[in-house]
Amino acid sequence: MDDVPPAGAAAPRTAVVTGAGRGLGAALATALAGRGLALGLCGRTAPPAPPGADAVCRAVDVADGRALGRFAGEVVARFGRIDVWVNNAAVLEPVGPLAEADLDAVARLVAVDLTGVLAGSAVFAAHVRTRPGGGVLVNVSSGAAGTPYEGWAPYGAAKAGVEQATEIVGREERAAGLRAFAVAPGVVDTAMQDRVRAASDRTFPAVGRFRRLHAEGRLSPPSWVADWILEHCVLPAGRLRPEGDAGAVHVRVPEPPSPGAGPA
Ligand SMILES: NC(=O)c1ccc[n+]([C@@H]2O[C@H](COP(=O)([O-])OP(=O)(O)OC[C@H]3O[C@@H](n4cnc5c(N)ncnc54)[C@H](OP(=O)(O)O)[C@@H]3O)[C@@H](O)[C@H]2O)c1
Repeated sequence: MDDVPPAGAAAPRTAVVTGAGRGLGAALATALAGRGLALGLCGRTAPPAPPGADAVCRAVDVADGRALGRFAGEVVARFGRIDVWVNNAAVLEPVGPLAEADLDAVARLVAVDLTGVLAGSAVFAAHVRTRPGGGVLVNVSSGAAGTPYEGWAPYGAAKAGVEQATEIVGREERAAGLRAFAVAPGVVDTAMQDRVRAASDRTFPAVGRFRRLHAEGRLSPPSWVADWILEHCVLPAGRLRPEGDAGAVHVRVPEPPSPGAGPA
């Protein structure tokens, strides 16, 4: 017997995306707007609204949980409720052996990539408790959560924390109808990948793999990844369900089919 209320069985109407000014966040904002959702968008600088979208766009540093809470309040005041919350904002740096890392930069990464996701998840979970209908929480994770890439200790540790936090909040908020997703987006063609490839072999020994994927044209377009996340996590018809008694869906976005591969 499923004790979960029909989480967002109705089509979602309002979504928040953090780090929505460029890269995957901007593609998610565009995809959500294309489905007619109203948006709350933030980044360190206020992101532009996708053309034609009804959006609240604000400069919010996700490391500042109180600022995130005020931002959520503004979005609710404007649109009445938030149905979907995507914690997408993250930074990659510092890259290199942990023994050589600037500890202030390590603390800053954790504040953005982990504390920021905890704060966004907390703000959204608290909101979902205030009204019926559940909600969808998407926390953008990474393959680095499970693969110990040398040179990425702070980033990998933060993303592993994101996976666990998503699982736990999904369990805690099941009765409130929260559906939680930890989504590793694959290797996506964004500015973050430009910075991945710019590392040296010494600071990031796996850099050759990412340069090869780029040379082979195998980076996923952000719009393709955003559409996949919409179809499999956000929209009720195709939404994945947690396995067994898991609190969250942990999923990696597949590579787009290569041109000429024929129908799947
Ligand atoms: N690209 C990949 O291959 C890949 C692979 C695995 C996982 N990911 C994950 O996918 C997500 C999106 O990455 P991306 O590739 O699109 O990265 P990106 O191109 O570097 O964009 C990152 C976004 O995060 C925002 N941001 C950074 N720090 C912030 C802060 N303190 N407060 C608010 N916003 C902040 C940035 O906006 P502002 O500069 O305006 O603040 C920007 O919009 C991240 O969670 C990343 O870890 C990406």
